Amino acid sequence: MTAKPTALTALPHDLKPDLLPRHIAVIMDGNGRWAKQRGLPRIMGHRRGVDTLKKLLRCCRDWGIGALTAYAFSTENWGRPIGEVDFLMTLFERVLRKELKEMMEEDVRIQFVGDLSALPDTLQREIDRAVADTQVNQGIRFSVATNYGGRQEILQACRAIADQVQQGHLAPHEIDESLFSRYLYTSNISDPDLLIRTSGEMRISNFLLWQLAYSEFYITDTLWPDFDQAEFHQALIAYQQRHRRFGKIENS
Ligand code: IPE
Ligand code: IPE
Ligand code: MG
Repeated sequence: MTAKPTALTALPHDLKPDLLPRHIAVIMDGNGRWAKQRGLPRIMGHRRGVDTLKKLLRCCRDWGIGALTAYAFSTENWGRPIGEVDFLMTLFERVLRKELKEMMEEDVRIQFVGDLSALPDTLQREIDRAVADTQVNQGIRFSVATNYGGRQEILQACRAIADQVQQGHLAPHEIDESLFSRYLYTSNISDPDLLIRTSGEMRISNFLLWQLAYSEFYITDTLWPDFDQAEFHQALIAYQQRHRRFGKIENS
């Protein structure tokens, strides 16, 4: 017997369903500071951060948001102390193993963006399994950016396109924005409508450099482990008040 899916949380009345972002990207920052404020080791912040992500994913699913992309580990994060890097890799593996059943019940389709070849073999196997098993699901598209760097992503796309040109399969004049996008890790999802960054840093830290060209930014001082449904609600209210012009002028 399959477990009953958890009850859906209703969309708050002050949010307009037709104006929700279709794709939300999130820079989950501030885990270390959250732990430090409590006199705890940084890893406790990462552990708490997983709970925040789980709740956000469920909320997005409940409120009908089609895609969530979360920045879990950047190409620059390898420069952290080995103990923290090892902890994170083990955490990712453990969480994937533990949450797979629930992702199936909640109809989540998981995928990973980034250079996965540099990750530990055991983590790669867990990733492969989660991606393969959840492909049958039809619900929210959940992308986890792991060993992800926007510059690295753009470079790998350039190399692949150059290779196609060299082999005579592609002419330089055929390289346009739409073709280029298809060579990015995110080829199967639309560009994010909304980027959320926690912990107050005013930068994108090498995240989705191409895809964020016209995304709305919501930056909050709240540290990632404290980012809750009430704050997510605030982010969506703010988003719904924005005027997205895409370089044009507002209709008069
Ligand atoms: C984000 O929190 C998680 C990762 C980058 C893996 P941090 O670990 O960057 O926390 P702060 O920014 O040091 O507080
Ligand atoms: C961005 O956070 C990367 C992730 C959230 C995974 P960082 O903490 O690594 O970014 P910087 O160092 O503040 O730019
Ligand atoms: Mg940080």
